[in-house]
Amino acid sequence: MGRFDGKAALITGAASGMGQAVAVRLAAEGAEVFGVDVNDAGLAETASAVAESGGRIETQHCDLRSVADCRDAAAGCVDAFGRIDVLGNIAGLSWQDRVEDVTEEGWDLMFDVNVKGLFFLTQAALPHLLASGGNIVNIASNAGLQGLAYTSHYCATKGAVVQLTKALAMELAKTPVRVNAIAPGGVDTPMTRNYRQVDEPDRHLLRRMIAFKPMSRPEHIAALFALVASDECPGVHGAIISVDGGLTTG
Ligand SMILES: NC(=O)c1ccc[n+]([C@@H]2O[C@H](COP(=O)([O-])OP(=O)(O)OC[C@H]3O[C@@H](n4cnc5c(N)ncnc54)[C@H](O)[C@@H]3O)[C@@H](O)[C@H]2O)c1
Repeated sequence: MGRFDGKAALITGAASGMGQAVAVRLAAEGAEVFGVDVNDAGLAETASAVAESGGRIETQHCDLRSVADCRDAAAGCVDAFGRIDVLGNIAGLSWQDRVEDVTEEGWDLMFDVNVKGLFFLTQAALPHLLASGGNIVNIASNAGLQGLAYTSHYCATKGAVVQLTKALAMELAKTPVRVNAIAPGGVDTPMTRNYRQVDEPDRHLLRRMIAFKPMSRPEHIAALFALVASDECPGVHGAIISVDGGLTTG
């Protein structure tokens, strides 16, 4: 018996990094996974990985900047599997910019993907989560819990994810739906490998971003995600769970 037998999981960012690892992990534990992303080639890669290990997955192109796409993603999961038990809001964008270099276009893009898409997909999935007694796991960041140089725009979006998680947890406190967030520090994914950094940064300022412990791998985040999203810890609600090697502790 898998922890997610008979359950359907709607996962954003399923084409890459943590979203891909979560899709593979939940499918391995019995979930029917509905993976969405803008990256169709990455989605196909995830689908192959899940299928090769005998799991069940359907994928759909979804640009989280579009509220219509968010609604189609929730409807697609219900069409495919008849239900939504887990919503994993994992997709996101990040890059560095000095304050003076942040553009209106860049600010809007980051907020549209990291915050607006997360909110409106949650809104669309909520009736189905209420019906199934399901739960939501958002991927926030250490950047939502501490101030970091050169990422004022990103910190603002992840601070919003932290607050949205808490606000939803309060509004849904009397329902069966749980809402939590995982706040990773550095994770070895395509995002960090291809990270756009500012030229000639002040190295002293960057020290606040570097933990003493090694970077996590996407599979580490997926393991915690699966625990939080499972029925094993019903009291975990409204939690922001750090996986940052102690970065935000002291
Ligand atoms: N990698 C890290 O060190 C780290 C640390 C803390 C938090 N995070 C957060 O973790 C989450 C996953 O990041 P990752 O490291 O796996 O990155 P990743 O780049 O490997 O994956 C992010 C995914 O989001 C998708 N995406 C981007 N724009 C989209 C859009 N408009 N619509 C739909 N999907 C879109 C991408 O196509 C990609 O598949 C993000 O929210 C990120 O901010 C990452």
